[in-house]
Amino acid sequence: MQTATNRFQEHLGIEPTDIHPEFNHVEGTSKKALAWFGSKNVRMVAASIPDITEPDDVILQVTGTTICGSDLHLYHGEIMALQKGDILRHEFMGKVFKVGPNVKNLKLGQRVVSSFQISCGKCDYCRENLFVLLQNYMYGQRDAGSFGYSHFTGEFPRTKQNIVPDEKALYLSDVLPTSYHTVVDTGVKPGDVVGVWGLGPIGQCAARWALLEGASRVIEIDRVHSRLQFAEDKSGIETIDFSQYSDVTKRIYELCPRGLDVAPDCGTFHEPKTLTHKIQKTLMLETDVSETINEMIVSVRKMGRCGIIAVDAGFANAINVGALMEKGVRLIGNGQAPIRKYWEEIFNEYIIPGKFDPTFMITHRVPIDDLAKLYPAFRQSHR
Ligand SMILES: NC(=O)c1ccc[n+]([C@@H]2O[C@H](COP(=O)([O-])OP(=O)(O)OC[C@H]3O[C@@H](n4cnc5c(N)ncnc54)[C@H](O)[C@@H]3O)[C@@H](O)[C@H]2O)c1
Ligand SMILES: [Zn+2]
Repeated sequence: MQTATNRFQEHLGIEPTDIHPEFNHVEGTSKKALAWFGSKNVRMVAASIPDITEPDDVILQVTGTTICGSDLHLYHGEIMALQKGDILRHEFMGKVFKVGPNVKNLKLGQRVVSSFQISCGKCDYCRENLFVLLQNYMYGQRDAGSFGYSHFTGEFPRTKQNIVPDEKALYLSDVLPTSYHTVVDTGVKPGDVVGVWGLGPIGQCAARWALLEGASRVIEIDRVHSRLQFAEDKSGIETIDFSQYSDVTKRIYELCPRGLDVAPDCGTFHEPKTLTHKIQKTLMLETDVSETINEMIVSVRKMGRCGIIAVDAGFANAINVGALMEKGVRLIGNGQAPIRKYWEEIFNEYIIPGKFDPTFMITHRVPIDDLAKLYPAFRQSHR
């Protein structure tokens, strides 16, 4: 799959980038970086410290980073167009180390957090706060560029920079805006009954956002005992263990006979449940599975809303289009979350006043040298 995708990308050609030769890379210096070498093969390597190559560039000295479900898609080799030696990580913060001549709003040494997304800041989408740009021809239009998936930094709200510790700011790079986005974009309203599929960091936070938006009830679906217990203990959320209740939809209607109002998918496409989809995926007859989408479509009430924030790669077979149409279900692709759109709001209205403390989800802290070990450990936390 990886090879085929790389060939396809090569065939389409690359978007030319204007590189300014007057800026040179720093030679003879090295930094630690986490690189991808194949499925389940990531390791720390020495890589040269980058220099300014564009007048708008900013080089950060990274002081903190996290690992996310999207990294697992790369770890499993299921996201395309990766090449051996590609440097990973897309959620990070740090200190400004160097800036290009056009950068007037950042000072050296300033603490900043980066959005996982790369955006130009100039196009129609960016002007509408929908930061999507570059990189993928597979979907008819270019998709958003992401750090560590291919290759933006934004400004940590400067005036507030010393008010919160790093651990409360770091998650602005992805998890907090992404989970908030699926709740807002899928349209959670006061009084709604919300079902969240997938209990990783995104699902755990989406449940909390739903409650903050006034949901009357949140039910979360997963099969990992520790994650189910975590959601119950830390957020007081009802859960469904799908290893016990194989018919998730039936269980949802037992718990709420009217059906769900809103259903965001915060799960993953690389864990098919049924033999049919395991076979189809193995044979490359589909890249993704329709199981969760179908459960959501059937579990919501008529005119209910289903959102997909979980990353999907391509095609899924046997989607219940009939139920989608007949029930008038709104199926919303939440897209790559427009991270910076929510920064000010989340930071000022939730983090600073303490209404949302992201540190509730921290389970492991490790030195940078042990970063590679976190991948199998994170994978293991799914069992
Ligand atoms: N769109 C965006 O901008 C964006 C940004 C960040 C993350 N994501 C995606 O959001 C998803 C969640 O991220 P995360 O870090 O919480 O991931 P994670 O891998 O930690 O969690 C995924 C959870 O889904 C559960 N799951 C798998 N199959 C399921 C099923 N059929 N039904 C219910 N649950 C199921 C797994 O057991 C796991 O606990 C990932 O797909 C990630 O790539 C999207
Ligand atoms: Zn992420």
